[in-house]
Amino acid sequence: MRYHPISNTLFIKNRTQFCSKMKANTIAILSSNDVKHNNADDVMGFTQNNDLFYLSGIDQEDTILVLYPDAYKKENREIIFIKKTSELIKIWDGEKLTKAQATEISGITRVEWIEDFEMALQYMAFEADGFYLGHNEHLKRATKDQQTQQDRMIAWCKQKYPLHDYYRAAKITRQLRQIKSETEIELIQKAANISVASFKRVLKACKPNIKEYELEAELTYNLIKSGGTRHAFNPIVASGKNACALHYIANDALCKDGDMILMDFGVCYANYNSDTTRCFPVNGKFSERQKEVYSSVLKCLKDGSKLLKPGVIPSDYEKQMASLVEAELIKLGLLTADEVLNQDPEQPLYKKYFMHGTAHHIGLDVHDVGLYSRPLEAGMVLTCEPGIYIPEEGIGCRLENDYLITKEGNINLTEAMPIEIEDIEALMNN
Ligand code: GLY
Ligand code: MN
Ligand code: MN
Repeated sequence: MRYHPISNTLFIKNRTQFCSKMKANTIAILSSNDVKHNNADDVMGFTQNNDLFYLSGIDQEDTILVLYPDAYKKENREIIFIKKTSELIKIWDGEKLTKAQATEISGITRVEWIEDFEMALQYMAFEADGFYLGHNEHLKRATKDQQTQQDRMIAWCKQKYPLHDYYRAAKITRQLRQIKSETEIELIQKAANISVASFKRVLKACKPNIKEYELEAELTYNLIKSGGTRHAFNPIVASGKNACALHYIANDALCKDGDMILMDFGVCYANYNSDTTRCFPVNGKFSERQKEVYSSVLKCLKDGSKLLKPGVIPSDYEKQMASLVEAELIKLGLLTADEVLNQDPEQPLYKKYFMHGTAHHIGLDVHDVGLYSRPLEAGMVLTCEPGIYIPEEGIGCRLENDYLITKEGNINLTEAMPIEIEDIEALMNN
């Protein structure tokens, strides 16, 4: 593993909390994700299912977690099924987890090979009244046109045990995962620290006529060298007007003298993520107009992030952030006060220059699970990411930090990432 072992007390506590929310006499079954295939025998790689990871810490394919807190026999209360390792697997893929290692990582005493799952479950299923099964419940972009391991588990279980009750494990995990424990916050902080160092490296490398992907390479070099597991998402390195395409990831353009670069990137460390955005001038010196736009966005970030505190409802926060951006758009001469006064409230004018939300939960998922109707609470971690995009001027600016909500307000976990104009220019010119 590239990351330091995580104390299994995290996963033990997560399971205790999860089980306390299960209905009486039910079994929860959580499956790992598939290793996704590409062409021929090539694979795209493996990312663990986050609910399974949250409850077990096992970061390996072909894993099933079974929780049955009311089981008559104590040994059936929690079982982790893992891939049976063999000499052949060892020759081709290297070491896989032994049973003892799986116990050490997860704190689960009973470890079985995955091929024994169906038989073991059979004994427990007739004692139980229902099942909790995992499923991707992302609001807008849940998996479609492909069958996941979870989909197959649901189909198999319902076919085999049609008269049991069925419940959604994700309904419980999305509630628990919204509040981060101290260990989780440390892991997010670790990801954030790698992000800070990676950003500084990029600033030093940036110069006119460099390709966007060369800056991406600097980012990747530092990320991997520092023990980051992977990019949290495909990094956006967008110069000039490319910065106005919100999910630009081609990163293949030449960075022209006089343009500004928007870099939105995240580090995944031990499956926990950071998500930050910074903007900087290709030639190390912001133009007057870039400074104006940048200062507006920075003001929105500074003022807006203060709104992230306990009790705030995310939709109210978003409205207030929109007002902050609207006021800056007037200052920048992009809208007039009159136009704004007379606008159709259903179609506010600011949306032409600022078209996305500015706070999402972050944790095991970059856009982490959890309900946005839930008021903010201490222990939540959210991004704050206002932006202003002016394609006709070739300027797109977004600034993004990650904030831990505390009883007193919030703590910026990405505080160490340079953001003031003078600091960025100084680092680029040293
Ligand atoms: N890069 C994705 C986001 O900022 O939400
Ligand atoms: Mn981002
Ligand atoms: Mn974000």
